[in-house]
Amino acid sequence: MEQTFRTEPWQVSTDTLALRNYGPLPGIGIVPINAFLIQAAQPVLVDTGIAEDRDAFMTALRSIIDPKDLRWVWLTHTHPDHVGNLVQVLEQAPDARLVTTYLGMGLMQLMQLPLDRVYLLNPGQVLDVGDRKLVAIKPPTYDASESTGFMDNKTRTLFCVDCFGAVLSEPAETAADVPPTDLRDGMVTWATIDSPWLALVEEQAFAQSLYEVRKLEPRTILSAHLSPAIDMTDTLLQHLAAARSAPPFVGPDQAALEQMMGSAPTG
Ligand SMILES: [Fe+2]
Ligand SMILES: [Fe+2]
Repeated sequence: MEQTFRTEPWQVSTDTLALRNYGPLPGIGIVPINAFLIQAAQPVLVDTGIAEDRDAFMTALRSIIDPKDLRWVWLTHTHPDHVGNLVQVLEQAPDARLVTTYLGMGLMQLMQLPLDRVYLLNPGQVLDVGDRKLVAIKPPTYDASESTGFMDNKTRTLFCVDCFGAVLSEPAETAADVPPTDLRDGMVTWATIDSPWLALVEEQAFAQSLYEVRKLEPRTILSAHLSPAIDMTDTLLQHLAAARSAPPFVGPDQAALEQMMGSAPTG
């Protein structure tokens, strides 16, 4: 199966960088897998990449900050594409506290991840990182109950966990570099994969949760699974609204998988 591939850290704004990777979705495309660094007075790392990519991730991280300077690791949720290098990051960042929720802490315990530096924060609460306050939010779509994003009001950047992700056909520096129809289709596909429950949500209720995002007035939206989206909030909200009524995603079955892998079905 194809390997993931990493690109250079990318400067999203004056004090925010993206650590970018792409993972294969066989037969469908690729999906960005991003972590982020906020060079705040108290620097914040948002998520820790995937274990498969450990050496390259840690090298990329060290190229943009001495991990000893990190004060916070914001864990958006506990899926493997977000906690992959958490142990290594915490080892190299002895002064960093780990931001998660009560449920996130419990799931970390089941995975035998270190809990001694956990800092519990709920949606609606605020993390003061010295030169700005990060306001924790619940994203409109998510695939894990502990998912917690946040709004950085200093740079008007929304960190939105898995929400607003997209399946892409090739890497893209920014979301604006993805052809418009590919972006719409890729976002709809991702939302139906990542949040299949969305089809059960009443239209007005979902519209309200999208309105809550609009009220934050983010200039930049940073999804773990989309290239940085700058001045594209309305477009992203429209595409996510469309996903609610899209046909459900049905993944390849065993016969299709074996065909993709180049062997005859056995079943
Ligand atoms: Fe996830
Ligand atoms: Fe994810």
